[in-house]
This record gives sequence, C-alpha cells and structure tokens, in this order.
Amino acid sequence: MREHAPPDTRLDPRPETASAATATLERPELEPRTRRAHIRRAFDRAAPHYDEAAHVQREICARLGAFAAALDLQAALLTGTPVLDAGCGTGFGFAELDRLCPGAPRIALDLAPAMLAQARRRHWASGDAGAPARTAALDATPAGGACTDSATLHAVCGDLEHLPLAGESLALIWSSLAIQWCDPGRALAECARVLAPGGIALIATLGPRTLWELREAFALIDGARHTIDFHPAARWIEAARASALVPLADEAAEVHACAPDLRHLLQDIKRIGAATVDGGRRRGALGRAAWSRLLADYERHRRPDGRLPATYDLILLALRKPHNHGPSR
Ligand SMILES: C[S@@+](CC[C@H](N)C(=O)[O-])C[C@H]1O[C@@H](n2cnc3c(N)ncnc32)[C@H](O)[C@@H]1O
Repeated sequence: MREHAPPDTRLDPRPETASAATATLERPELEPRTRRAHIRRAFDRAAPHYDEAAHVQREICARLGAFAAALDLQAALLTGTPVLDAGCGTGFGFAELDRLCPGAPRIALDLAPAMLAQARRRHWASGDAGAPARTAALDATPAGGACTDSATLHAVCGDLEHLPLAGESLALIWSSLAIQWCDPGRALAECARVLAPGGIALIATLGPRTLWELREAFALIDGARHTIDFHPAARWIEAARASALVPLADEAAEVHACAPDLRHLLQDIKRIGAATVDGGRRRGALGRAAWSRLLADYERHRRPDGRLPATYDLILLALRKPHNHGPSR
C-alpha cells in the first residue's frame, strides 16, 4: 500500500482568503505527462537556490557514498564504461562518484534543464577537465534526447523512466533522491536495460514515513494531498526483482531536516523543488486560522535543542544486474 507524503508549495499564510471549509482541491490524479511537466517546472524553478536549502539532500548523498564504499564495486567498474548520475540535480553526487569510480566517464541526467545547467557549472568549477570523450552510451542517444558534452561530463536532459541511453552501456548507476518521483517498475526496468551485465545501481530513495509530521498536521486542516506518494523498501525490492536485478544490500535510516520554526522548514522544502506535484492538492493559500492550527500542532515535535524536525525515511539500495540477465535493447 502506498502512503502520501513531500510538502505543498502553497504554504503561504495570509489573511483569510479561503477557509479550511471552503478550500477546494485539485482533481485527484494527474495524467503522467502533466505530472512530469509539473516535476520539471518545480525543479527548474528551484535550481538557482537548491544548494542553499538542500542540507538533507547533501547528507543523503554522503550516506549513499558511505553505503557504496562498503560494497565491492571493482567487478562492475569496467575500464572506460560510463557511470550515470540519474536525477543529478545540481551535482551533489559528483564528489562521491569521484571517490567511488575515479576517472570513469560520467553521464549526468536530469529531467530539469536548469538543474542540469547547475550541474555543469559545478563540474567546471571543480576543475575536472580531462580530454573530451564521447561514450558508447551516448552515441546511441536517440534524436530528441538533448545532450550536451563537456570534458568528461556528458549532460543529458532526460527521464529516468525512459532513459535516452543504449542498452548494456553503463557500469554503474548512482541515483540520490530522484527515483521517488518515478514509478518503481518503469524506472528499475530502465536501470536494468542500460546496465552492463555485472553493473550496479546505487539508489537513495524515501519511504512512507517521510514528512509524516507534516501530513499529520495538515490532516487537521483539509483533506488535500500535501506530499507526493512514497513507496516502502519492499515495493522497490519487488520492482527490482521483477526486472531481474539482484538486491545486494539495503539499509534504512531516519534523517531529519531541522529549522527554528515551521515557516523555515516549509520554505526549505519548497526551495529544493519538492513540491506536491500530484493531484488532490489544495487550491488557494492557507488562511490565518488554518496556519495557526498547523503551527500549534507542529509544536509538539519541537526538540530539546529548540529546533523543529521533519523526518526523511531514507532507503538505500544496491542492485546488481546478473551476467545471465536476458537481452537488453
Ligand atoms: C531532490 S533532487 C536530488 C538531486 C540530486 N541527486 C541530489 O542528491 O541533490 C531530485 C532531482 O530529480 C530530478 N528528477 C525528478 N524526476 C525525474 C525523472 N523522472 N527523470 C530524471 N530526473 C528526475 C529532478 O529534476 C531533481 O533535479
């Protein structure tokens, strides 16, 4: 069963414009293309200030790096075979990939062009400028899979559910906090297709307890959806197996975003682009009374250090494509 969970962008307390009783909801489900367009727009808007607010995202990248460092990746990292950062955002994963697979040709893929632009800036700023090299994976990029090359970094604007990459072309996939925006079956089938036999996918995603405090508080106010849907680890593992990927390791942990008050907590979530993109959202700003109720309820979570937390239910997964996997096209 799926649970609802990340936050609404329209958390903007103003003088009462729409009361809890009169607030209307968007229709419950969005057509996949519309949903995808909403996700892209949210992250395009967030790109310029993502790094300032993405404290939890940075921490989770480091955790995925430590999780990966404990695995034996050598057999997967065939010389010259590219590695992919899927849903790279502004490129927090690059430093971890430098450590895990130094020198491997790197493809950075994201749905949002503005995120990709930030990732390219980070890459250039890091001074990593080897000789430009095309990869076999990108040589197969179909027309329309927009791709720009810089030295040793290939930036591809594309969708994790429809990777514009050749089958069996990657040694490793790294994906931190992007795949929760996707359908598990479709995204992992694509990972299985593009990995070379023996290749490994390293994934950080979020489980159903993510932002539970917010969901509980909003449930007092309206029946709207204030977060996207998150899937439990079992759903990801089931989808991996259905794509013939072998789970090598998994780990769960709770990570907390903290802020001095609810307004800052919500602002940070909004600034990284993790807005609710699914249907059933609230239309109209929160009124003053609803906002006060929200604040009062959230106070019960205040910590002894005076800060307010929001939980991220972290799931780390390592999946391997076996050598006897069926043919990938
Ligand atoms: C929370 S950010 C994480 C970015 C980065 N991996 C990090 O750790 O900071 C999520 C990223 O996933 C991207 N994304 C969401 N859905 C995607 C999809 N279907 N295909 C590719 N990228 C996607 C977003 O555009 C955004 O840049």
